[in-house]
Amino acid sequence: MEQLITYMKNVFATNYMYYTKAHGFHVNVTGPDFYEYHKLLQKIYEDSQKNIDAIAEELRSIQSLVPFNLDRIEALSLIKDIDTVPKGIDMMQILLDDTETLCECIRVAREEAIAQECFGLVNYLEERLDIHYKYQWMLRSTLE
Ligand SMILES: [Fe+2]
Repeated sequence: MEQLITYMKNVFATNYMYYTKAHGFHVNVTGPDFYEYHKLLQKIYEDSQKNIDAIAEELRSIQSLVPFNLDRIEALSLIKDIDTVPKGIDMMQILLDDTETLCECIRVAREEAIAQECFGLVNYLEERLDIHYKYQWMLRSTLE
């Protein structure tokens, strides 16, 4: 179970960082396609924000505390923070790359959840993958 807890902490922290970047991009985006970017980024950040709590509760269900310290979240996240404001089109590429990283992180946790027979958690992680695959499609289509 320790391995699953570690992977789920990575999922929690990576989603938290993903949310932070998507929300930051949503409010700071500029340019001719402002409104389209602004709306897509809102859809993505609202979903990942809502799931901060859901992932935290999944962690509590497998008897782990939740790392709610910002330094710890940054250390556990597989996505890197950003301290610049990229162009709108570059935001789409960064978020697409980050979505792929988050999916890889979720897939690793899912494999371990299957091994531990935590099937409720497996279902939750598979739902998250489905949603993130849709965002990958939307972000990729924006870039084409
Ligand atoms: Fe907003």
